[in-house]
Amino acid sequence: MSETVLLVGGGGREHAIARALAPDCDLYACASNRNPGIAALAEGFETISETDAEDIVAYAESVGATLAVVGPESGLAAGVADALDDAGVYTFGPQAAEARIETDKAFQRQFMRDEEIPGNPDFATFDDMEAACDYIDDYDGDLAVKPAGLTGGKGVKVIGDQVTPEEAKAYLRDSDYERVVLEERLVGEEFTIQAFVADGEFRVSPAVQDHKRAYEGDEGPNTGGMGSYTDVTPSLPFMADGDYEAAVEVIEAVVEALPEYKGILYGQFMLTTEGPKVIEFNARFGDPEAMNTLPVLETPFIDVLTAAREGESLPELDFAEAATVCKYAVPEGYPTDPEAGAEITVEVDEDADALLFYASVDDREDGLYTTTSRSFAVVGVADSIAAAEELAEDALADAGEGFHIRHDIGTAALVQRRIDHMAELRGE
Ligand code: AMP
Ligand code: GLY
Repeated sequence: MSETVLLVGGGGREHAIARALAPDCDLYACASNRNPGIAALAEGFETISETDAEDIVAYAESVGATLAVVGPESGLAAGVADALDDAGVYTFGPQAAEARIETDKAFQRQFMRDEEIPGNPDFATFDDMEAACDYIDDYDGDLAVKPAGLTGGKGVKVIGDQVTPEEAKAYLRDSDYERVVLEERLVGEEFTIQAFVADGEFRVSPAVQDHKRAYEGDEGPNTGGMGSYTDVTPSLPFMADGDYEAAVEVIEAVVEALPEYKGILYGQFMLTTEGPKVIEFNARFGDPEAMNTLPVLETPFIDVLTAAREGESLPELDFAEAATVCKYAVPEGYPTDPEAGAEITVEVDEDADALLFYASVDDREDGLYTTTSRSFAVVGVADSIAAAEELAEDALADAGEGFHIRHDIGTAALVQRRIDHMAELRGE
């Protein structure tokens, strides 16, 4: 019997999930925005907010869903997985209590401390912003300032990198944050490992490096992620022997400490001279990182979902030995002053090993237009990072006007800068 899967979410990440599932199931989807890529793959698409648990359950029941996947953290935080599970639709995504590992950064750090999870930086939590400012004054070294709640990756200010101590204090005093975490600034190179988790078991995927800064050369404000790459191996070129495995051990410790956890566990690491340290955990695939990982997953994703639901051992995951480079096209001015309304006319020849994923687009009668969020991404898949980068650029050649793209992502020059940065920190 074919499974009927409801996918919640309408971004590039969910387009990648839809592409991984569609050949093997009856797919339905819902999101607040109509994603034309997902709609083309699904048998039904409803416009429903990702946080509207009641309407999502009603839609799941009306289509006879046997499984669900929740893409975005907003839905997990709103208890969409809890509601679907309660309605008898097994959901690959943690319930709100387990999703706190992402949705409450104060909980996340304290959980790591209590469970003795390796890789936790020095941290302190404050409800009183004046006390937080005093801590900044007294702290010996640089700090990262983080609101405890969800901010789409855009609320963090790193002293010594993005802001001065005075600017960080002004930021806290001007904010209406109820709780903030101040933590040791980690220095190194960032990478992500996404694990598929159920019943106390997990399977990992290759490391990905995202690019948070809006502009080339890692300048400008933080974004949800401008693009990302993976290598042919599970590791990345700037990582040394044992670094990937050390990060997997962190994930293993989290899975052991959270036996109820199900769904994707996304570990965001800073590779420091002391090995990988945890920047944060997310309770879902990364966006863009899902677009690197799922196209090279050769094991049917549906097999992971059904094994998880049945309480069976998860299948071993096979990944193609291919590198991937993902580049987002975002509206000009993103993220501070994004200009919506540019027409999206990009076409990608998917036989040429580049893939097109839609994100936030305005699907009007006369065409597709940009909104104020990330618009679409292309992903090159090839036998080296350089070749994948070239495929992504070829696909972007006809992107049209009104977009900003970080053309440096995945280039040999930027990858070499990452390698040189780690070598310099290690004193090589
Ligand atoms: P987050 O929302 O926790 O992913 O943080 C957004 C970005 O802020 C991360 O991708 C890092 O670039 C940076 N960041 C967060 N925490 C730290 C830290 N402790 N040290 C240095 N940079 C950090
Ligand atoms: N790319 C970062 C995230 O999905 O949180």
